[in-house]
Amino acid sequence: MKKMRTKTVRETAVEEAFHEVEPKDLNASDTLFGGELMHHLLDKVGGKVAQHHSGRVCVTRHAEIDIAASAYLGETLFFKASLNRAWESSMEVGMKVTAVDFQKVTLRYIGNAYVTFVALDDERRPVAVPAVIPRTLDQKRRYREAEDRRAFYRRKKKS
Ligand SMILES: CC(C)(COP(=O)(O)OP(=O)(O)OC[C@H]1O[C@@H](n2cnc3c(N)ncnc32)[C@H](O)[C@@H]1OP(=O)(O)O)[C@@H](O)C(=O)NCCC(=O)NCCS
Repeated sequence: MKKMRTKTVRETAVEEAFHEVEPKDLNASDTLFGGELMHHLLDKVGGKVAQHHSGRVCVTRHAEIDIAASAYLGETLFFKASLNRAWESSMEVGMKVTAVDFQKVTLRYIGNAYVTFVALDDERRPVAVPAVIPRTLDQKRRYREAEDRRAFYRRKKKS
């Protein structure tokens, strides 16, 4: 069987995906819809990192999303995302969102997410993914913390 090439975190990281908040993105209280934010986290940004790493179609299996502040019309959301860890068929992508108002020159933290994607083969069964090599101190910390989150879900599954 052909050996899979391991990848570094940097190879697949997204440094600056952005989305300008538009009137159609707003809920009744004039702030960004949670679903719009999730669409970007899961499909537009996180899924791309997982698909780039695995070279496969990936589906969302689990998501932990923390939204600490609302985003408003006129702001631009910036997404940073990178692969924290890969196991057999699953991969955890960590993401951070900030909002920039270019007129007021402000930058605000909006939230973060840890999303687990599963790579699928042509029959839509989970398929093995390459390992990831953490290089920097931050990447190594995220790599360890991802294993803690996995251990937590596995304990919960057993209980
Ligand atoms: C992805 C899917 C095919 C996998 O089904 P399955 O064969 O039952 O396999 P499981 O879900 O038990 O496990 C698959 C992987 O997910 C991991 N996983 C399962 N539950 C998890 C959770 N709550 N948190 C983190 N990882 C989880 C498993 O550990 C396994 O990873 P590994 O192979 O690296 O060890 C199936 O769950 C599915 O189709 N889900 C729906 C996905 C979807 O439609 N998402 C929305 C649209 S993108």
